[in-house]
Amino acid sequence: MPLVNLNELYLDAYKNKYAIGAYNVDTLHMCRAILEVCEKNRSPVILMFSEGSREFMHPCNIKELILNISKDITIPFAIHLDHGRSIESCKSCIDEGFTSVMIDASKYSFEENVRITKEVVEYAHKHNVTVEAEVGCVEASLKGEDDFYTDPDLAVKFIKETNCDSLAVSIGTGHGLMKFKNDETPSLRFDILEKINEKLPNFPLVLHGSSSISPQLLNDFNKYGGTIKEAKGIDEALLTKAASINVCKINIGTDFRMSYITGLREALALNSNKFTPRTFLQPALDRIKQCVDYKQKHIFMSANRIKEEYK
Ligand code: 13P
Repeated sequence: MPLVNLNELYLDAYKNKYAIGAYNVDTLHMCRAILEVCEKNRSPVILMFSEGSREFMHPCNIKELILNISKDITIPFAIHLDHGRSIESCKSCIDEGFTSVMIDASKYSFEENVRITKEVVEYAHKHNVTVEAEVGCVEASLKGEDDFYTDPDLAVKFIKETNCDSLAVSIGTGHGLMKFKNDETPSLRFDILEKINEKLPNFPLVLHGSSSISPQLLNDFNKYGGTIKEAKGIDEALLTKAASINVCKINIGTDFRMSYITGLREALALNSNKFTPRTFLQPALDRIKQCVDYKQKHIFMSANRIKEEYK
């Protein structure tokens, strides 16, 4: 069965210095579109549900639905909870069959983050589920405060105390459209990443807030009625460099969502006399397929990694 936890995916990614894309999905059609691209590209992938998207799918059992739409899929993939807000929601995802969860207790004190994460890890590991946690705060560069960057010594202490399986680090990425201030040259703190890597060799790290929001995407988004004036994303080359250090999972929400809405807007604008939903949904799905395809082949370097049918 190709549905796996993240440890299985990270093993190869770490060894071969590539990253696995994790995409913020909202619907089953999005999941299927991603899986189709990954099957074609022989790339592993992570289907990532936020608390909000999980509520949107409610009351369905997400794992059962995904198993149903992935019967012909032979690449390994995971179902992951993004930014789990509480021990309870992580446990309920684990009970539902998610193969990975993130517990995000980074807004609490270090001790409280440890306590909460530890409890999730203990429960998750009993069910063969992997746990991602966060130390530092991902919007560091936007907030302009050094405290928000991940402290490499604290990262080591945190992993020892919690036994979590991967760590989201703060090195200058940020969620949403503006990852940097207007007058700032976008860059990442590779010095921090290198230090963490030195202290934690063979430990998978995660980058949140990694959309690039290219001028082309912004332009296409606005062409048929979008009104986003500015965006400042992460340079693609920086992400490829991070993947070569030991970043094994890269989260993409904004690029993916904007691609979908771009396809949808365009189809709505060009087909004003039509009303069959798939006329509008298919171009949206085609856009996210292009988004995933491009990132795998040109940024994350995860294409053609799965040589055989996954067992
Ligand atoms: P972006 O907003 O950069 O796509 O980040 C998404 C993310 O990190 C979800 O956890």
